[in-house]
Amino acid sequence: MKKYLVIGNPIEHSLSPKLHNYWLKKNNINALYEKRKLNEEDFKDLILQIKEDNISGANITVPFKKKIISCLDYLSPEAESTQSVNTIYFKNNKIVGYNTDIIGFERAMQDINYKLSDKKILILGAGGVVSSLIFALKKRKVKSILICNRTKEKAESLKDFFKDIIIVNWGEIPNFDMVINATSIGLKLNDKINLDFSKVGSDKFFYDVIYNPTETDFLKEGQKLDNRTENGKKMFIYQAAAAFKIWHGIEPKINNDVIALLD
Ligand code: ATR
Repeated sequence: MKKYLVIGNPIEHSLSPKLHNYWLKKNNINALYEKRKLNEEDFKDLILQIKEDNISGANITVPFKKKIISCLDYLSPEAESTQSVNTIYFKNNKIVGYNTDIIGFERAMQDINYKLSDKKILILGAGGVVSSLIFALKKRKVKSILICNRTKEKAESLKDFFKDIIIVNWGEIPNFDMVINATSIGLKLNDKINLDFSKVGSDKFFYDVIYNPTETDFLKEGQKLDNRTENGKKMFIYQAAAAFKIWHGIEPKINNDVIALLD
């Protein structure tokens, strides 16, 4: 039986196995998808297992999306541009890194009918997923992208890839149309985001990349102020569907049953 994995640290929160195993069953594919908590030292062994065909493919999550790159033979153009890999696959004797977070975010925005063009976007965080968000936002021709991260140097280093982003200090809330929480604040139930949104008004869009828990403190803040809110569930489903397509050559169905699976 073929085996697929999601690797990260922590990994308990990941719903990828639930989703992929559901689609595997629905498509009569004899394979199993598991989650595995790894440390960086374990990468060598993982790559060996992939090369020996014990593992057929893997999703990569926090905090390894960049760190895994040095172990790979080849990157897709999107993975290269963002220096971020969330899917790997052994193909023609090479381990290839892909980025399906970009398409995941784009499709999620299409699905919820949010028009990005000409919008001012504020991104909180500068971790693994942020380069994918910037890449997708630039494709959609937003007006400006502002990055706000606790460690300012990390935000500054994104400028090496994306020259026209604007860096703001952590704690400052500039004018925006859409704010994206791409920090890990909210993954733990009692996490509170220490930013003051009280003056932003009620015509904004609060988007959280986090999908589990479904409602972070950040989204609650947005709602309290009567703003539109959305969690990362659809982005998660669409990035998973794109990975499934890479591995199995099949576009898995996304319907209400799939959405309900993750509640
Ligand atoms: P990585 O940074 O290893 O790629 P990540 O989970 O993708 O991991 O990113 C975590 C993000 O959440 C970072 O932007 C981090 O900010 P720092 O760069 O300053 O570490 C942010 N983050 C995590 N905990 C935070 C907190 N308590 N306050 C503010 N930002 C936080």
